[in-house]
Amino acid sequence: MKSTRSVLSRIATNQGHGENSPYFDGWKAYDKNPFHPTKNPDGVIQMGLAENQLSFDLIEDWIKRNPSASICTLEGVNGFKDIANFQDYHGLPEFRQAIAKFMGRVRNGKVTFDPERVVMAGGATGANELIMFCLADPGDAFLVPSPYYPAFDRDLRWRTGVQIIPVECDSSNNFQVTREALEAAYDKALESGINVKGLILTNPSNPLGTISDKESLRSLARFTNERSIHFVCDEIYAATIFRSPGFTSIAEVIDEMECNKDLFHIVYSLSKDMGFPGFRVGIVYSYNDEVVHCARKMSSFGLVSSQTQFLLASMLSDEEFVENFLSESSKRLGKRHEIITEALQHVGISCLKSNAGLYIWMDLRHLLNESTPEGEMKLWRVIINDVKLNVSPGSSFHCSEPGWFRVCFANMDDQTVEVALQRIQAFALQRKQEDKPTNKRWRKNLRLSFTSGRFEEGIRTPHMMSPHSPVPQSPLVRAMT
Ligand SMILES: Cc1ncc(COP(=O)(O)O)c(C=O)c1O
Repeated sequence: MKSTRSVLSRIATNQGHGENSPYFDGWKAYDKNPFHPTKNPDGVIQMGLAENQLSFDLIEDWIKRNPSASICTLEGVNGFKDIANFQDYHGLPEFRQAIAKFMGRVRNGKVTFDPERVVMAGGATGANELIMFCLADPGDAFLVPSPYYPAFDRDLRWRTGVQIIPVECDSSNNFQVTREALEAAYDKALESGINVKGLILTNPSNPLGTISDKESLRSLARFTNERSIHFVCDEIYAATIFRSPGFTSIAEVIDEMECNKDLFHIVYSLSKDMGFPGFRVGIVYSYNDEVVHCARKMSSFGLVSSQTQFLLASMLSDEEFVENFLSESSKRLGKRHEIITEALQHVGISCLKSNAGLYIWMDLRHLLNESTPEGEMKLWRVIINDVKLNVSPGSSFHCSEPGWFRVCFANMDDQTVEVALQRIQAFALQRKQEDKPTNKRWRKNLRLSFTSGRFEEGIRTPHMMSPHSPVPQSPLVRAMT
C-alpha cells in the first residue's frame, strides 16, 4: 500500500499530539482491562484521570429542581428555538455575566471580572491554544515550570508551532519555581536565539496539587514585566482547594502592584471546579484589549454550545447553589485526600504536602532500583502490569527527579479507592520485605485480598462512570486531563 505521509500536512503527520508517552500507555492498559468490582476485580484501576466526580449528586439535584434551564424539557422548550439559533461568538450576555461572577466567587470575592473580557473556548485546552495563537508566532517560546501538565506539549505547541522551555523545579524546595531557575532558562533561550514570549504557570499546580503564594506570584509578575513578556496563568483548579491556605489569583496580585496589565492573561474552565469536562467550557480572560478582540474573533473555532451556555447561565447565577456546591465539593475532596495520604503514610509512602487539585504527588523514590528515568519506568511498569493501578510517572510531567508519580483520587467511588489502597499497601509492604524486587509473591497475596466479595453489583466504578464505548477506544478519543 502507498504511504499517505506525503499527501498529508506536516501538522497531520508530526508527533505533536504526544500520543506516544507512558501517560497514554497507562490509559491504554486501563482501557484494555478496566477494573470492575464483580465482573473484573483484577482489572486496572484508573488513577490517571483528573476528574472531579465526587459531587455529581448535587448537580443532578439542581437539574431536577430547575427543568426550565434545560431547553429540551417541557418547561424549557419555549426557549428552544432562540437558543438553538443563537450563534454570536460573543456568547449569551447572561452566560458571560454568570461566568464573570463565578470567576470572582471562586477567587473568594477578592477580585471582580468584567464580562466584556470573557472569551469562550473549547475547554482550557482550547483556551490555552487560543492564547498561544494570539501571543506567539511559530518558533517563539513560552517558559513553563516543570513538572507540568503533559498535554501542554500538545495544547501549546502542536498546531501553533510554539516551543516550550521547561523551567526545572525539584523537591529541595517542594518544587517551587525560583527566580534563579527562571532567569537561567530565559537567558539560555536568548543565547540560543529563541524569542521568549512569556511564561505560563498553572496555579494550583497540576501535577503537584500545591498553590503559589502571593509573594511568589508577585515575583513572577515582576520577572515577566521587567522583560516585557507575557504572563499566562492557567487557573483551572481555582476552586479545587480543600484546605488552607486559600487561593491567590494573579488577578489579585496585579490589582495590587504597579505593572503593565496588557501582559497578563488568565485561562479558566469549568472542567475541574464544577466537574464538567464534557461541556468544554473554557475561558480566556485577558487584560489586553487587543488580545480580547483577536481571541474573540478566533473563538469561532471553539465556541461553547448555546445550549450549554444557557444551562450554565442559569445554574451559576443561583448563588445559594453555587455556595453550597463549592463548599461541599471541597469538603468531599479534602476527606478523600486525607484517606489516601494517611493510608499511604501507614506503609511509609509520603506525598508532597498539598491542598488542591484532584491528585496527589506520590514519592516512591525509595522503591526505585536505580534513580534514573529508566528506574522510574521499571517501577511504573510493575505498578501498571502487576499492582494494576494506572498512576502516571513523573517523567510524563517532565519531572527532572525520578520516582514521583501522580495519583488521581476523585474519579472513583469509595469502594474502588479501598481496593486501590489495599493494592498499593500490599505492594509497598511486600517491597519492604524483599531484598530483590521480584513481584511474584506479593502478586499472589494481593489477588487473595481483593477477591473478598465485599462489592455488590451495581456500584459505579470509574469505568462505568466514564463515557466508554463498548469497544475500547484510544484514550486520545477523550481529552487529556
Ligand atoms: C492545567 C490544566 N490545563 C488545562 C486542562 C484541560 O482542561 P479542559 O478539560 O478544560 O480542556 C487540564 C486538564 O486536566 C489541566 O490540568
